[in-house]
Amino acid sequence: MSSDLKFTSEIKDKTAELYKKIEGTIPKIEWPTVAPYIYEINKLKKEKGVTILAHNYQAPEIYYGVADIVGDSLGLAIDGDKVKTDKILMCGVHFMAETAKIMSPEKKVILPDFSAGCSLAESITAEDVRKLKKDNPGIPVVTYVNTSADVKAETDICCTSANAVKIIESLNVDKVIFLPDEYLAKYVASKTDVKIISWKGKCEVHEQFTDTEIIELRKKYPNLKVVSHPECPPEVISASDYTGSTGSMINYVKNTDAKDIFLVTECSMSDNIQIENPNINFVKPCNLCPHMKKITLHGILKSLKGENNYIEIDKKIIQKARGAIEKMIAVGR
Ligand code: 13P
Ligand code: SF4
Repeated sequence: MSSDLKFTSEIKDKTAELYKKIEGTIPKIEWPTVAPYIYEINKLKKEKGVTILAHNYQAPEIYYGVADIVGDSLGLAIDGDKVKTDKILMCGVHFMAETAKIMSPEKKVILPDFSAGCSLAESITAEDVRKLKKDNPGIPVVTYVNTSADVKAETDICCTSANAVKIIESLNVDKVIFLPDEYLAKYVASKTDVKIISWKGKCEVHEQFTDTEIIELRKKYPNLKVVSHPECPPEVISASDYTGSTGSMINYVKNTDAKDIFLVTECSMSDNIQIENPNINFVKPCNLCPHMKKITLHGILKSLKGENNYIEIDKKIIQKARGAIEKMIAVGR
C-alpha cells in the first residue's frame, strides 16, 4: 500500500495492541504502511459519525482494525438496522450496502467501491422474477439477500444462508420459487419437503470447490473436519461434516475440539477465525472473492473523506424491498 501517511510514534503506540492480534496475517515490514490508514479511518469515522459494518469475508486489517460491527449477511441486516449514527460505511459487496440502505433509508450508506458486485446478484433481474411469477401464478417468491434491490422488490420474503430452510417452512406452502442460487436451492431442497422452483445463479467463488480436493485432504489429515458454505456444489456439501452460513461456520469452529479444519468458503474467513483460535490448523486451498477484495483500507479512507460513493434507491423500490427483508428478520435465524 503506497501512502503519504506517516507511521508516527503515536500511531505505532496506538496500533501496537492491534498489530499483536493480527501479526500472523500482515508481515512486520508492511505494518508501517497499513497502521496509519487504520488510525486515520478510526479517527475520521468518529469525527464524522460513521459506523463501519464489515462482512466476515473482509481482510483482518479491516475486520479487526476498523469495523464496528462484523457478521454474516443476516447479522449485518439485523444489526445495521439498529445503528445509531446517521451514516454507515459498508465493507462488503453492493447488495449488502443496498440492504443497509433499504432498512435505514434516512441514513447515508457509503460503499467504498461500487464495482464490488456478486455473481449471484448479477445472475437475475427484476424482469426475470416478473416472468417467473407469471409462469408460476400464486407461488410465493423467496429471494436470497444476494440480489439487487429491484429483485427484492419483486419478492415475497428474503432469506440468507443462515435461515433459508426456516423461511421456506414459515410460509406453510407446498411449493416456492427460490432465487437465484441453484446450489443453495438444492441444499434447501435436501432439508425440506417443500418443492423448490430454482434459478441458475451460482457463486463464482464457491462453485470452484470440488469433492476431489476434500477426499485428497482427508487422506492427508485423517481427523479433518470439513465445514462448507451452502453455496458450494452438492457433492462438496455431501463430502462435508457441517454446512452453514459464514456466521454458523464461525460458531462451529468455536464449539469444536477438532485440530484440523477446512473451511470451504472465502479465504479471509479462515484468517479472521485463526486469530481467535490459534490452536486450530486451518487447511487452506484458498479461493478469494474478487468483489469482497475490492474493499481496501485505501478505498475506505478515500470514501470516508469524500462521502461520494453512497447508495441511492428509488423510494418505491425501497418500500417494496423493505417488506421482504422485514418479514425475513421477523422469522429470524
Ligand atoms: P453469508 O450470508 O453466509 O454471510 O454469506 C454471504 C456470501 O456472500 C457468501 O458468499
Ligand atoms: Fe457473491 Fe460469492 Fe462473493 Fe459471496 S463469495 S459476495 S456469493 S461472489
